[in-house]
Amino acid sequence: MDITAIWKPEYSVGHQEIDAQHKYLFELWLMLDSIKDQEDNHLSLEQALLSLFDYVEVHFANEEQYLQPHPEFKQHQQIHADFIAQCTTFMEQFGRDALDTHTVVDYLRNWLIEHIVETDIRYFRELKEHS
Ligand SMILES: [Fe+2]
Repeated sequence: MDITAIWKPEYSVGHQEIDAQHKYLFELWLMLDSIKDQEDNHLSLEQALLSLFDYVEVHFANEEQYLQPHPEFKQHQQIHADFIAQCTTFMEQFGRDALDTHTVVDYLRNWLIEHIVETDIRYFRELKEHS
């Protein structure tokens, strides 16, 4: 699978920098997806999860700078904070070998797509409409 199999033009929020960051999140997800079925993958899985979760935080902080003027900014920030908390829980579970990798890989893809399509796109559109 490559980026063209997972990134679709309808995921664009109409902001070049944010779209590029979203694509990079999918690149990191693809890395994770390609590692999940390898043998003796504990270390590489940990690296792939950490790479994705670290970049999620960098990306959210960046995206929030643009979203700050939106009247429902606080709600969006809360959604981001909840997801970061979820990622922290996943790493804790991974640490005690209690993480179902396949479930998490699916969850992460679905969350990213849903969040972009249902939340990010709306926020960026409304910001544009009111500027
Ligand atoms: Fe977002």
